[in-house]
Amino acid sequence: MSPHHAKKLFQPYDLGDIHLANRIVMAPLTRNRATPGTDAPNDLMVDYYWQRASAGLIITEASQISQQGQGYIHTPGIYTDEQASGWRRINDAAHEAGSRTFIQLWHVGRVSHVSLQPGGGAPVAPSAIRANTKTFVADGFVDVSEPRALDLSEIPGIVADYARAAGLAKDAGFDGVEIHAANGYLLDQFQKDGSNHRTDSYGGSIENRCRLTLEVVDAIAKILPPGRIGIRLSPVSPANDVRDSNPQAVFDYLVRQLDARKLAYIHVIEGATGGARDVAPFDIWRCARLSAVPISPIIPAIARWRWKRWKAARPTSSPSGDRSSPIPTSSSACAATPRSIRWTRKRSMAAAPKATPTTPPSPPEGEVERRRRAKSKALLTINA
Ligand SMILES: Cc1cc2nc3c(=O)[nH]c(=O)nc-3n(C[C@H](O)[C@H](O)[C@H](O)COP(=O)(O)O)c2cc1C
Repeated sequence: MSPHHAKKLFQPYDLGDIHLANRIVMAPLTRNRATPGTDAPNDLMVDYYWQRASAGLIITEASQISQQGQGYIHTPGIYTDEQASGWRRINDAAHEAGSRTFIQLWHVGRVSHVSLQPGGGAPVAPSAIRANTKTFVADGFVDVSEPRALDLSEIPGIVADYARAAGLAKDAGFDGVEIHAANGYLLDQFQKDGSNHRTDSYGGSIENRCRLTLEVVDAIAKILPPGRIGIRLSPVSPANDVRDSNPQAVFDYLVRQLDARKLAYIHVIEGATGGARDVAPFDIWRCARLSAVPISPIIPAIARWRWKRWKAARPTSSPSGDRSSPIPTSSSACAATPRSIRWTRKRSMAAAPKATPTTPPSPPEGEVERRRRAKSKALLTINA
């Protein structure tokens, strides 16, 4: 990263309707630290987020929109008043420290276990196809349970759960929501033909498979302005055993549809989640040209160093009054995340790095660089 871009990371940025104090964004990271029994956020979580509130934007850990949407033990929910009150305390602390907050709305679909489901029932999925993946429950890591296919009549209820969760998020003081449509969870399961074998209006064609994702976006857009809604996609990530026979076509369509809805951002996982960027052929720059999509090359050490120096200069007293770091090394499903920092750049359509046979012609080379400098907006995502 050039010193010019490194410096830019610490400058303000308008993301959709939200003004950010800087361009550092904390990636969503599941921690499994919600209160047992209620899955409400607690003191530990208040301190955890407060400690990271020097980032311009925090995207919270994925938070289930219903008990049916839960796939791992002790993940926080956003479907009861008690959970919303817990999130309110986190928002107050983060806002006080200058950060903005989006909650990641989550329905895991088939990536769950009967012990986490209402009445011990089967997890739900587009089709009754079990994922070859594991989850974390009271007894430790276990295979996910055999799912059942959602009946057509149940789908409006799931869309309504997302909308209700968005309403609670608004009441809890979040600046916005990120719809988790990535990593092999429910919306991703519907999008991809490996997990979606339905023959009704939610299966078959690309339009049908993307229908649920877009219905969720549209339902939430009745609660929050589009400039306060983001979405996460993972076109080719094999996370949680999903795959599609033609991801480029699916995500060209989906990104075009999302772009028309003028959301705050589209957050794209490049390649495998936490793995190889080139896990499968996919032109992520093509998505970027179709919309304002953040793209994620690795940043060089300079930004890492600046981040550490900047963090070290912050006050250390937490909202709960504890001056020591309250973060334990978790022995749960989500043990301490390796700290990685990535640079994401919101590129304009004109700023594509190179043309491919499937893309529109690029402007002359010098012009690309000139526009890139003028229009590109540096953003940094961190796993902390
Ligand atoms: C412990 C852990 C928890 C995670 N939880 C979430 C989550 O709740 N929601 C989500 O979208 N991604 C989640 N991720 C994925 C991260 O946001 C991120 O994409 C991943 O760590 C890969 O980082 P990289 O893109 O810098 O390689 C999680 C990753 C880890 C390691």
